[in-house]
Amino acid sequence: MTISINLPDSVDNKYDIKIERGILNRVKDELNLNRKVLIVTDDGVPSEYSKTIAEQCKDSALVVIKQGEESKNFDSFLLLQKTMLEHGFSRKDCAVAIGGGVIGDLTGFAASCYMRGIDFYNIPTTVLSQVDSSVGGKTAVDFMGVKNIVGTFYQPKKVLIDPDVLKTLSARQVSNGLVEAIKMAATFDEEAFKDFEEAVSVEELNIDEIIARAITIKADVVEKDEKEAGLRKVLNFGHTLGHGIEVSTDLLHGESVGIGMLAMCDDEVKVRIGQVLKKYNLPVKAEFDVDSAIEAVMHDKKSKGDSISTIYVSKMGSYEMRDMKVDELKARIKTVLS
Ligand SMILES: NC(=O)c1ccc[n+]([C@@H]2O[C@H](COP(=O)([O-])OP(=O)(O)OC[C@H]3O[C@@H](n4cnc5c(N)ncnc54)[C@H](O)[C@@H]3O)[C@@H](O)[C@H]2O)c1
Repeated sequence: MTISINLPDSVDNKYDIKIERGILNRVKDELNLNRKVLIVTDDGVPSEYSKTIAEQCKDSALVVIKQGEESKNFDSFLLLQKTMLEHGFSRKDCAVAIGGGVIGDLTGFAASCYMRGIDFYNIPTTVLSQVDSSVGGKTAVDFMGVKNIVGTFYQPKKVLIDPDVLKTLSARQVSNGLVEAIKMAATFDEEAFKDFEEAVSVEELNIDEIIARAITIKADVVEKDEKEAGLRKVLNFGHTLGHGIEVSTDLLHGESVGIGMLAMCDDEVKVRIGQVLKKYNLPVKAEFDVDSAIEAVMHDKKSKGDSISTIYVSKMGSYEMRDMKVDELKARIKTVLS
C-alpha cells in the first residue's frame, strides 16, 4: 500500500510512504542507492536489518548509535556529520535511518544540516515510528535536558514501512507504540477506535491496517498544517500532561501519553480509552510528584503565560483545542495518580 503526502508549501512537495511486508529486502528498487549512503541504526535494532540495506548499496557507511533517548544528542549528530565528511559525501548523497523514532529524528536532523540538506530516507522499525514519527518531517535532538529542542522541519524523500521487522520488537515497545495509533483514532476516527475495542488482545490486532490508518490520518494532518501552525497540534492529544508524566516516572513516551489522554477527555471517552489501554497492557495510572510534573509541562513549548494550549476530547473521534489554566491542569493530572 502506498500513501502519498503532498505539501503545498514545500519545495520538494511530494513523497510516498510504502507499507509492505518484506520491503526491506528490496530497498534498492524503492530508493536511489546508487550513490554514497549513510546508514544509521542503534545497537538495539537487530543488525541484520542494517546489513540487509548495506548489501543493496554500492558505497555505504554504517553508524551504530547506542540505543535509547540519551543518544538523541549533539554527540551523535556530530558523529554523523563527521562520518559523512570523512567519507567524502556530497550534496547528491543520502542518509537512511533504520530504527525507531530516536534514529529517525536524529538522522533526519543530520541529513537536513549536512551541506544544507541531503536526501533522507526513513525505514522505521518500531510501532511508534511506523504509525507516527517517520512521517511529517519533524527532526530533532535533545539539548540541555530539553527534549526535541533543536531541530528542523525536513521531509523524508520516501518512507518504507516493513511490518515484518516488528517481530523482533519487545511486547512492551509494541504496546507503547500502539498508543499513538489509539490517539489518532480517538481524535479523528471512531471506527478505527472501535477496532481497538473489538480485538481481544495485541496478537489479534491487524497491525498492517492500524499502521495504514494512522499514517493516512497523520499524512492528512501534515498536508494541511506542515509546520504546526494549528491543526497539527491535534497530534499532541495526551502529550502535554504525558510529557510531565514521562519526565517524572520511568514510563515510556507512549505509556505516558496514554495516561495523559485519560486526563484530557470527558468521562465516557475516558472509560473507553481506559479499557482499550488496559487490554493492550498499558498503564492507566502512575505514581509521580504532581508539582514537578506540572513544572515540566509549563516548561514545555506549548505553554502560553499561565495557561497551556491543550487538545481535549469530549466525543470519541473528535477533538477541541482548549486553553487551560495551571490549576485545572493540576486537578486533571491528579485524577491519574495511583
Ligand atoms: N518526529 C516525530 O514526529 C516524532 C513523533 C513521536 C515521537 N518522536 C520521537 O520518537 C522517539 C521514540 O521513538 P521509539 O518509541 O521508536 O523509541 P526508540 O527509537 O528509542 O526505540 C525503542 C527501542 O526499540 C529498539 N528497536 C527498534 N526497532 C527494533 C526492532 N525492530 N526489533 C527490536 N528492537 C528494536 C531500539 O533499539 C530501542 O531500544 C522519541 O525520541 C520521540 O521524541 C518523534
